[in-house]
Amino acid sequence: MSDRYLITAALLYANGAVHFGHLAGAYLPADAYTRYRKLRGDDAVYICGSDEYGVAITLSAELASNTPKEHVDFYHKLNMELFKKLNINFDHYSRTTHKEHDIPVQEFFLELVENGYIEEKVTEQLYSEQDNKFLADRYVIGTCPKCKAENARGDECPSCAASYEATDLIDPRSKMTNSPLVLKPTKNWFMRFDLFKDKLLTWLSDKKWKPNVLNFVEEYVKDLRPRAITRDSTWGVKIPLPDTEGKVLYVWFDAPIGYISATKEWAKLTKNEDAWKDYWLDPSTKLIHFIGKDNIPFHAIFFPAMCMGQNKPYKLVDEIPANEFLNLEGKQFSKSAGWYIDLEKFLDEFSADQVRYTLAANAPESSDSEFTFADFQMRCNTELVGKFGNLVNRTLVFAKKQTDLKVPVVENLEEIDEKFLKDIEKLTQDASAAYESFSLRKATHVIMELAALGNVYFDAKKPWVDAKQDETRHRMQNTIALCLVCLKQLALISAPIVPEASKELFELLGVEQGLSWDKVVSYTFKSGDHLKTPKILFAKIEDEVIEKHLEKLHSLAKA
Ligand code: MF3
Ligand code: ZN
Repeated sequence: MSDRYLITAALLYANGAVHFGHLAGAYLPADAYTRYRKLRGDDAVYICGSDEYGVAITLSAELASNTPKEHVDFYHKLNMELFKKLNINFDHYSRTTHKEHDIPVQEFFLELVENGYIEEKVTEQLYSEQDNKFLADRYVIGTCPKCKAENARGDECPSCAASYEATDLIDPRSKMTNSPLVLKPTKNWFMRFDLFKDKLLTWLSDKKWKPNVLNFVEEYVKDLRPRAITRDSTWGVKIPLPDTEGKVLYVWFDAPIGYISATKEWAKLTKNEDAWKDYWLDPSTKLIHFIGKDNIPFHAIFFPAMCMGQNKPYKLVDEIPANEFLNLEGKQFSKSAGWYIDLEKFLDEFSADQVRYTLAANAPESSDSEFTFADFQMRCNTELVGKFGNLVNRTLVFAKKQTDLKVPVVENLEEIDEKFLKDIEKLTQDASAAYESFSLRKATHVIMELAALGNVYFDAKKPWVDAKQDETRHRMQNTIALCLVCLKQLALISAPIVPEASKELFELLGVEQGLSWDKVVSYTFKSGDHLKTPKILFAKIEDEVIEKHLEKLHSLAKA
């Protein structure tokens, strides 16, 4: 029976280009998982989109002298193109400025009000008389209340690392204009997360999430407080109440509901208006949020509480495969510090499969990990070319020479052959288990084990010797036929991670595309079936190319 899965990856802020860190942490694992579920014949939908409201956006738009709208339009488009080049196959990639996004967001807010989970409160916030507006903490600088360092940020001090409220700063000023700020009372709406403590604890009690997620969440739930879910700003979803001019819903309130509005949009485009309900209102659907570790409280506590406060029985998340961070050559990715890779250019030079494979092999699953150029070259040359590509090539080149690219007859298998088939089966199961448990690292490992197994078998059987004498030719034929079985399974288990190579390999083997996992496993080649002349699945990367990239990275960082 097929199961239903709703798979999401954190909505990406539309204020910069997606980088390897985001990809390895969320978008690639979610993509590979969705591909795996679809291969298994499940009804799996991968939903994502741009996160386009909030201070992160207005600030970066201002710094680039853009309007917020121009800014998000630009990055929304750019990121969609980059995802496409990387074969990240969303079923739908939406955006939170999409007009219909407001509908469920405002509905969520109103139902929370109705159900007594929201209260109004007047607090004093920093106001710029020069700009006639309240400034969020990222727009504020001042003197640190602890160490008295000047130019401390609105939320933390770069000198002593203290964290505080912007209103605690001494001599607060606008980061943009340097004008002084004053305290002024303003009304905001607060969600009573504290009222959800017991419900959350009960719901969390049977979760078998990763220890990093569970430990964090258990601590966090102990001290839940009301949190402001509105802001003094004009860039966001409007508050659906009278007299709320100049205030909008907080971005972390509207964004997760974006998963729902995007599913609705997808349902309308591809199925029918009500089809979203099968994913959000049916308890048997599995909801999986792929995120980075900084997003844990929002996906494990705040959004579930928002859903618990609704009248409709919204699905609460089932799995949160939260990843740690991926660094670049020992340091954090940082566009502003020049420590980054221009993905657009990178993808002109290297293939999506090369990038996907390397990121999967280094996925930051249980601790922070790294992308380095030396590792990238090693993964591409030693593993993809040297093991995977090599097995494809030597098997098909041999078949071309010895059997005219026809699948040979299999007869009188020996122990070594039987053992080979068993090992292939075992590794196929290991790959499946790796995908089921959200481990791309493990999956890449198994893919290479299978390729290595095939190469070792080929070497051990020495088909080039068997080919020389009539009495041993059948042995040589068995070797080819079994290597074809190995390649077919290799194409299968690698499909979620290197989809292009997998597709080409199936094509070379004459196996029809689009078969389910089980159908590929039980597929049997028939003697006489046609194979294709081998072609290069993965390119080799020369030392000079790697050196050029390293030089570029270091020169940009210094500039
Ligand atoms: N844009 C946020 C970030 O990159 C993630 C938003 S996830 C959502 O950190 F659930 F709010 F959509
Ligand atoms: Zn300080």
